[in-house]
Amino acid sequence: MSNSNTVFKTTPNGKLKGSLRVPGDKSMSHRSIMLGSLATGTTQVTGFLTGEDCIATMNAFRAMGVNIEGHENKQVTIHGVGMNGLSAPTEDLDMGNSGTAMRLMTGLLAGQNFESTLIGDKSLSTRPMNRITKPLAMMGAKIDTEEGGRPPLKIKGIQGESKLKGIHYDMPIASAQVKSAVLLAGLYAEGETSVTEPGITRDHSERMLRGFGYDVTTTGENGSHISLQGGGKLTACNIDVPADISSAAFFMVGASIAEGSDLTLEHVGINPTRTGVIDILKLMGADITLSNEKEVGGEPVADIRIRSAQLKGINIPEALVPLAIDEFPVIFVAAACATGKTVLTGAEELRVKESDRIQVMADGLNACGIDAQATPDGIIIQSGQLTAGEVDSHGDHRIAMAFSIAGLRAKGEIIINDCANVDTSFPDFIKLASAVGLGVS
Ligand code: S3P
Repeated sequence: MSNSNTVFKTTPNGKLKGSLRVPGDKSMSHRSIMLGSLATGTTQVTGFLTGEDCIATMNAFRAMGVNIEGHENKQVTIHGVGMNGLSAPTEDLDMGNSGTAMRLMTGLLAGQNFESTLIGDKSLSTRPMNRITKPLAMMGAKIDTEEGGRPPLKIKGIQGESKLKGIHYDMPIASAQVKSAVLLAGLYAEGETSVTEPGITRDHSERMLRGFGYDVTTTGENGSHISLQGGGKLTACNIDVPADISSAAFFMVGASIAEGSDLTLEHVGINPTRTGVIDILKLMGADITLSNEKEVGGEPVADIRIRSAQLKGINIPEALVPLAIDEFPVIFVAAACATGKTVLTGAEELRVKESDRIQVMADGLNACGIDAQATPDGIIIQSGQLTAGEVDSHGDHRIAMAFSIAGLRAKGEIIINDCANVDTSFPDFIKLASAVGLGVS
């Protein structure tokens, strides 16, 4: 992350036309490096997200002795070292801005026979890690945190012949990061490790583990009980990472709210644990059609066509919250441009993302003339005319991109401060967005 203030400025009245393939899925790109590194054999990844966060994950595994080649042309070759082949890093492992990387890596590193320390940037250093250190401690992991369970995380690893113990964990929050951290530690644990999730969360870890030949069992209502046995091995495979639906979401909203738009987003991952944004936008009246649906490497993908439509305000169903958890900043922009009122509840998780996404979005929308009221677990947005304004993204990539999209319907220029972190998830955002008609520089 750069220390200088990267500022985005929008130009009003654009419309989005043509077709676009947004960068690769962030969740899958992180996981491909982690599992590929621990596999036996060589894993080829295509469509890899070359954003700063995934490169940080790659560098962390390089620092533990894994030979990882490339990321030119979004292709990565990982020469796996096997389950017990990592070596102790000589420096702290810097996970940049990524909560996913830090939480999943903690699970994996808890089972290694060496000590490691995970650090992150200013935003990551404020995020709660006790949600993973608590279940990992129940498995026998020894992890020191700063006060309040914040990073850095000092992971002691296991000593001599001792091992982590498999547990069952009833997850108090619907979080794919918590689920994944426990299951990844479970690879190194004695016996069975299982979790029950209180709501459906993204299942990329389970799918990718199976792709690497590891048995993962899913049972219970909506597949909410997930279990695996420790002590198995991962076998290298090829991974085709689809375009990230979380990055595509900006353009789904943009094309919906900008009159005269007709945009196709190509080869987007439409895993049903991620498609809450499509469901929410459709409930609001969006014109979204899917074509070319196929399955690629265990993950469903499709082309998504969006034509502009008059959206209406809705009460967002709480069951869709975990399925659209990263897309709310731009969904709030859709709500500002809809007719009537949109109400979100049951989304307190948004307060502990890269920024407090409820407060930061409410403040930004207010600065652009919209009546948006933050509530403890959500927001109430009364639609209106977006005006010119100056907003602060608080270094949150998704806030910066959400206000870039808002510019399509604003009466004047929106100035967005602190945008450097857009590179963590969407390299070349300005270039790709400009190519389909977004006025942002
Ligand atoms: C992610 C899980 C989500 C999401 C994050 C990526 C993952 O977090 O917000 O951007 O890859 O597992 P939670 O599981 O904590 O909700």
